[in-house]
Amino acid sequence: MNIIDVIKKRRSVRTFKKEELSSDVIEKIKEYLNDMKCDNPYFNADIRYEIIESKKGTEIEKLGTYGIFKNAKKFIGVIVDNKNIPLLEVGYYFEKIILYLTEIGVGNCWVAGTFNREQFNSAFKIKDDELLLIVCPIGYESKRKSTREKMFRSLGGFNKRKKREELFFNETFDNPLDLDIDKEYNESLEMVRIAPSAINKQPWRIVYKDNNYHFFKTKNENSKHPYDISIVDLGIAAYHFYITNKEYNLSGCFKKLDYLEIKGKEDLEYMFSWIKE
Ligand SMILES: Cc1cc2nc3c(=O)[nH]c(=O)nc-3n(C[C@H](O)[C@H](O)[C@H](O)COP(=O)(O)O)c2cc1C
Repeated sequence: MNIIDVIKKRRSVRTFKKEELSSDVIEKIKEYLNDMKCDNPYFNADIRYEIIESKKGTEIEKLGTYGIFKNAKKFIGVIVDNKNIPLLEVGYYFEKIILYLTEIGVGNCWVAGTFNREQFNSAFKIKDDELLLIVCPIGYESKRKSTREKMFRSLGGFNKRKKREELFFNETFDNPLDLDIDKEYNESLEMVRIAPSAINKQPWRIVYKDNNYHFFKTKNENSKHPYDISIVDLGIAAYHFYITNKEYNLSGCFKKLDYLEIKGKEDLEYMFSWIKE
């Protein structure tokens, strides 16, 4: 499967089969996690991945996910330093893992909020200076969705995505980027458009200017929260953009520019740029 097909195939899975993942598959996942490296110089951080299993009769018999996930027994935890939280980097590298899981037929879901933090912290043995940023249930996807999942999806509008013209702009934010302007990048932008994001917020906005792509984020309304989860979404978008560019031999790199003259909207924050090579 090429990466475009994998990105298109990925969906959040919240209802799993009772059948356990085979030991071969578990081994494959463990190997993949062990081999994960921060291989993009712009996204560099220490990120630890652990797998736990909730088994009958063990300390972690029932892990609380507020009933949103059904038959989820194994979870990958994404663990980081709690003082310097690498949000962008987790988005970038964990999406790489999510796409790998999708490719090998393992159902998965990014989870940043709907889990009982106390229980999961204890199951993952999180230390005082660490933060369990993401948990991700893994298992075989059940074709029959639980009623709760169906409700969650439809109430949240989670299958929908914003239109291209709401997200991608040419030179200024009041000018949508037409399909015939920089055609070879159309597919990479489409892969950003369909990416997953927390509460399906799709906080990314991209401006094409001087032949480069500049990534912005909608501002965080909930500023009381200790961190802005939308930054993770920008990391996910960056990974989709990068890996699609790679597929089409479009070279370049991510950089944060010191100066960028784009009349920004009040509610947008500049994050980084893709500079073509
Ligand atoms: C950073 C992040 C955090 C998320 N947290 C949760 C969560 O706590 N609970 C949940 O059920 N889904 C969570 N999701 C899944 C999103 O709701 C989902 O990706 C989005 O609605 C789009 O649906 P799709 O993944 O099926 O395309 C999260 C996704 C991301 C990217």
